[in-house]
Amino acid sequence: MLTKVFDLNKPNNILDYDDILKECATIIQNGGLVATPTETVYGLCANALSPDSVKHTYNAKGRPSDNPLIVHIDSYEMLDLVAKNVPESAKMLMDKFWPGPLTFILPKTEVVPFETTANLETVAVRYPSNKIMLDLITACELPLSAPSANTSTRPSPTKASHVFDDLQGKIDAIIDGGDCDFGVESTVIDMTGANPIILRPGFVTYEMIKEILPETSIDSSLIENKEISSPKSPGMKYKHYAPTCDIFVITSTNINNIQKNINLLAVEAFNNNEKIGILATTQTLEFYDSSKYFVYNLGDRENLQEISRNLFNSFRIMEQNNITKVFAEDIGNENEALAIMNRLKKASGYKILNF
Ligand code: TXA
Ligand code: MG
Repeated sequence: MLTKVFDLNKPNNILDYDDILKECATIIQNGGLVATPTETVYGLCANALSPDSVKHTYNAKGRPSDNPLIVHIDSYEMLDLVAKNVPESAKMLMDKFWPGPLTFILPKTEVVPFETTANLETVAVRYPSNKIMLDLITACELPLSAPSANTSTRPSPTKASHVFDDLQGKIDAIIDGGDCDFGVESTVIDMTGANPIILRPGFVTYEMIKEILPETSIDSSLIENKEISSPKSPGMKYKHYAPTCDIFVITSTNINNIQKNINLLAVEAFNNNEKIGILATTQTLEFYDSSKYFVYNLGDRENLQEISRNLFNSFRIMEQNNITKVFAEDIGNENEALAIMNRLKKASGYKILNF
């Protein structure tokens, strides 16, 4: 299959925006797959109500069929189409955070096929804020299932080129709408139990949600830093975001200690003929020897969105530079940092060294 790329950054294409969306909507209505940017990461869009379309999605990504998809909507009418018995508590969060990077687990309606939910009676629903994604849903007149548009186990895509590298020849089209704003996937919150539980941290943070619903908790696996065998969110048990290089996360409450220990580990590995990468921050950049190591600046520690926007791209850049060992800095666990560290620790396979 030839994967068409629609580049919205090219001036002549901007004039054709409506035509591009119409063409992509037709592809999806006919059962095909289109990757598009969202405010979090690129999503691989399909008709969420069609078992065949959803099966294509799993095949293209190489995704295990017991890992359910998020259904994306463009209105509250569409919410009622796919989910039922939406609790008042969920509506309070929707009022505050939708459209945006927050996904709710809710009881599903009959129109949502079990292929989409991996046989669960619940469905994950998100009302995104990205204009291209919203316009695509509207043009399709359908709720769209959209997992991250990467090959399963690879880093999530934050640029169209990442999607192309993973999925060219396997999907019908890619809309190139530039880099994603947040760079990590949406917060997932389970609203089907007695109290809300955050299953995946994102840029709608635990702290923000607790201000509205103080009874909210975080799934224990997110705090314990380890893989779990029977997680509430099926996707959490799979190997994730893994680049071909080995990543080590260096944690400490003291930034000088982190930087000092990374230097010690890097020297040792360098002397063992490893090709070393360091994921640094603006504040620590000057302390690493960039003549010996591939030092990549994730961004300013005071600007967590800058760091998250660069994170998944940094993994792919390390691969392209044939790095064998990567040392990454702890950036803390509060607010947005929880989401970033969650992705980093998963990518490392939980190789966390605490000093
Ligand atoms: O930001 C995002 O959420 C992106 C963009 C494209 O919207 N999408 C995304 O989808 O990250 P995906 O498939 O990569 O991650 C979906 C996560 C998985 O961990 C999955 O297990 C969980 O949501 N999930 C989906 N349905 C669920 C359900 N019914 N119950 C529990 N977890 C569910
Ligand atoms: Mg994913």
